[in-house]
Amino acid sequence: MPKTGSTARPAAKKNNNKPLATTPARDGKKPVASAPTKDSAKPPAAASSGSSLEIKDTRTSKTYSVPISDGAIRAPELKKIRTNDPGDTGLMSYDPAFLNTAACRSAITFIDGDKGILRYRGYPIEQLAETATFLEVAWLLRHGELPTQQEYDQFVHDITFHTYVHENMRKFLEGFRYDAHPMAMLNSSVAGLAAFYPSARNIFDETERNISIVRLLAKTPTLAAFSYRHVKGLPFVYPDNRLSYVENFLSMIARMSESKYEANPVFARALEILFILHADHEQNCSTSAVRAVGSSHVDPFSAVSAGVAALFGPLHGGANEQVLRMISEIGNVKNVPKFIETVKSGEGGRLMGFGHRVYKSYDPRAKIVKKLADDVFKIVGVDKDLEIALELERIALSDDYFTSRKLYPNVDFYTGLIYRSMAFPTDFFTVLFAIGRMPGWLAQWEEMLLDKEQKIARPRQLYVGPAERPYRSNLKAR
Ligand code: ACO
Repeated sequence: MPKTGSTARPAAKKNNNKPLATTPARDGKKPVASAPTKDSAKPPAAASSGSSLEIKDTRTSKTYSVPISDGAIRAPELKKIRTNDPGDTGLMSYDPAFLNTAACRSAITFIDGDKGILRYRGYPIEQLAETATFLEVAWLLRHGELPTQQEYDQFVHDITFHTYVHENMRKFLEGFRYDAHPMAMLNSSVAGLAAFYPSARNIFDETERNISIVRLLAKTPTLAAFSYRHVKGLPFVYPDNRLSYVENFLSMIARMSESKYEANPVFARALEILFILHADHEQNCSTSAVRAVGSSHVDPFSAVSAGVAALFGPLHGGANEQVLRMISEIGNVKNVPKFIETVKSGEGGRLMGFGHRVYKSYDPRAKIVKKLADDVFKIVGVDKDLEIALELERIALSDDYFTSRKLYPNVDFYTGLIYRSMAFPTDFFTVLFAIGRMPGWLAQWEEMLLDKEQKIARPRQLYVGPAERPYRSNLKAR
């Protein structure tokens, strides 16, 4: 029997509302310092410590003082604000879609949406994309520091030797229809891994967490590639442990009868950079899903499959697929102005690949991707779809509708074009995003798990349904 002992979190140490200079220590490891911030793009934490917010409740004329810490008030403090009505459980904050609610403290990724800044553990994304490897970034996101050579070599070794999946997983994937969406296949196969590794439910055992994290990073490209080959009707290609992470993935995708697959180095580096750019993006929709599901103390395979599901949606990771579908529908550069008009009037849906909840000046990843696209297009040539994309971008960036709403190209606007030029089918684009995002989901999942302040995620609601009423069935008497 696999060990599936108690998943109870070790005794909680209450956070006493002090602004944190460090994140909590992880299982005896030294605390991870928050990102060093020399410039003005620094989290607003220190500036507001010791301050408070005075709130006057005009219903009762009482005044309350709510402490401000890290630029935030604690929403549970609002519960103290209540009327004399005995049924009043206290004031709530109402924030559909979490537009202005911090649900955690995180030391992983810093974004300044107005300035277009993205940093992993303090390192600017531009510098990481320039020379880091994807697995180096994966280590960094989880551990907070760059790996030493020895740590890196061991990590690469561990990942490389866990790339194989159980043969029954292969049979599971073969059970899908020929036209199954690869994201649906990836989602269910990632979730299915939980059935193969029941001891992963011991989430507070560090050894179990380590091996689950290694397994997820190692096996996701294999599951993704198997999904691809199934849809294409091609034989599955098993992992080649002589190859690097990205080259091995490309080999499982593209290898036919060659005795040794050699990836185009420009494509391999482009994909590695795209994986790095996607590796984390703090509390976005899919990461929030992973944290929320993980907060029930389920195993990491189940928690992360929630992230894959969330990423599938067209407003999130599915946007890269939608960009290409939109461009195909436009069909020709000359149709771009008319299409833009339909977007503005609301008839044509949204301009996919434009706009972002956080970035309101530019998406720093989009800038890197655009340059990357140039490198790839030098090899494969510029096609009509790229011309349409460039014209869409040109018109949108000079149109008041888009500029006044701060709608700029996001990372998905160009990634689809690169993936397509590398011959990936359109419905596979979001799968590539999911492979890249896996280290971020895992780092965020573990950070949530070890954060003594976290509990099972459980938002409140404002009930707007009927008041109590008697049950009178409309069905025939039974
Ligand atoms: N095209 C046209 N209009 C848009 C777009 C767009 N892509 N995005 C937002 N708008 C408009 C909205 O209609 C709204 O206009 P209004 O004020 O006149 O009503 C205004 O801009 C604000 O839009 P919201 O929906 O409130 O913005 P929000 O921050 O909630 O949405 C989102 C962000 C989902 C990314 C949105 O911009 C969008 O749908 N973009 C297209 C899909 C896309 O590219 N998603 C990928 C995001 S990146 C990622 O997930 C990796």
